[in-house]
Amino acid sequence: MLTVVIDGFFGDTGKGKVISHLALCDDVKIGVRGGVGPNAGHTVVFNGKTYKLRQVPSAFVNKKSKLLIGAGVLVNPKIFFQEVELTGTKGRVFMDYQTGIIEDKHIDEDRSSKYLREKIGTTGTGCGPAMRDRVSRTLKLARDFDYLKEYLTDVALEVNEAIDRDDNVIIEGTQGTFLSLYHGTYPYVTSKDVTASSICADVGVGPKKVDEIIIVFKSYVTRVGGGPLENEYSEEEAKRLGLYEIATVTGRVRRAAPFNFNYAKRAIMLNSPTQIALTKIDALFKEDYGKNSYEDLSRDARKFIENIEDQLGLPVTLIGTGPDTHHIVDRRKDYGLI
Ligand code: IMP
Ligand code: MG
Repeated sequence: MLTVVIDGFFGDTGKGKVISHLALCDDVKIGVRGGVGPNAGHTVVFNGKTYKLRQVPSAFVNKKSKLLIGAGVLVNPKIFFQEVELTGTKGRVFMDYQTGIIEDKHIDEDRSSKYLREKIGTTGTGCGPAMRDRVSRTLKLARDFDYLKEYLTDVALEVNEAIDRDDNVIIEGTQGTFLSLYHGTYPYVTSKDVTASSICADVGVGPKKVDEIIIVFKSYVTRVGGGPLENEYSEEEAKRLGLYEIATVTGRVRRAAPFNFNYAKRAIMLNSPTQIALTKIDALFKEDYGKNSYEDLSRDARKFIENIEDQLGLPVTLIGTGPDTHHIVDRRKDYGLI
């Protein structure tokens, strides 16, 4: 069974938390990361520890899961090694031979470009300049570095063989639908398409192999960097409402807005999801913090969720009630999905 997890807004919806829950719950054999690269920050809170991951897949919480990074992804080896150390995953984490490698010159360019840094508001992690070099066919790949040898594998082959054996595999998307280079709010976007189809292509999996696509929406919308955001709250309003967030990678304040059905409907069109994961419900309904069953949720929270199901025509199968991997309501059984 192949599950693809992608983000329906502008990133930072809590994919890391959703994926870590699935990895533990579903006996996941492979967690494989697609997306752009270390510009993404996924937060996983597990056993009282907070992990901010930019390269290692969030499925690491399951000690039996193999962790892979697709050929379409960019790796900064320094960050990769730090995270392998932090997560203690050496021996079960690998990247594809053809994964692109970010070098210092890419980071310097990203950070010194007025256009990229100030107008677009990039994360300054070198992803855009590295992608450009990849298109120019001058970027070095993982196979060009001897010191990466023990971390290399044929990711597409491993993933496709696992799917053919009926193993559970999760493909982990990064960024968010409206940061897509093609379908997002150009030029305020990242350097690649990040919708479900591209995330699968990053790994080397064809569309017919996908069983479930989980689109992750947060209970409100945030974005970091420049670009439009409908119905944006002022910083004061966001603070008052308890929606004030600091970005994982850049430490910048995240701009915030209410849940947006226009965005959600378009994201559903672009990604063809089968299920919705709705995160941070406890930010809107404080009394629902840490709950694990739908029946226990407050009436207001259930009304909010039912309205989303009605308007979007998809089941809300996973509901995030707090930062920890275990702060989640999993309704997939109720919907006959597992
Ligand atoms: P870049 O991807 O670093 O080039 O940044 C381009 C735009 O995408 C900026 O607005 C970034 O803040 C945004 N961005 C890139 N990656 C992420 C992410 O993982 N979460 C949220 N925003 C992101
Ligand atoms: Mg993030």
